Amino acid sequence: MPALSDEIRAKILAYIPRYPSKQAVTLPALHFVHDAMRCVSYEAIREIAEMLDLSPAQVHDTMTFYQFFREKNAPLGKTRLWVCRSLACSLRGGEDLLETFCQKLHVQPGGTTADGKITLEFAECLGACEGAPAVMVNDEHRHCVSDVDAVIREAQG
Ligand code: FES
Repeated sequence: MPALSDEIRAKILAYIPRYPSKQAVTLPALHFVHDAMRCVSYEAIREIAEMLDLSPAQVHDTMTFYQFFREKNAPLGKTRLWVCRSLACSLRGGEDLLETFCQKLHVQPGGTTADGKITLEFAECLGACEGAPAVMVNDEHRHCVSDVDAVIREAQG
């Protein structure tokens, strides 16, 4: 059974004409797979490589360069919760905020809650310094965060 669904394959194929080379589609392809599967397995890497006329090592190199993508042995939870710990956020309590999330979720940064719902991550500047301390719930910013429980409820879906 293929690792990539027909839907993911169709998305990757639709991107190929938009880029100057098939290799340039590697990053979007990794994002499609990662979003859908919460990790990128070796089988998925091999199939992406096949579609883009690359070697699996080339796809794996791109994937691991960014340290954003999870491998099969450490998949993401349903929601990825980023807590910024860079300067503006630190000055407005970002480090304490991260510690509070760790305590309430019973995970360290990089870890996923036992129910598989939330993966907690620390982030370097989220580009929302005016809203420090900032967090990101999947792709959406939350600014001036003080109510950790409300963010957790939202992240739990
Ligand atoms: S320092 Fe936290 S968003 Fe910029």
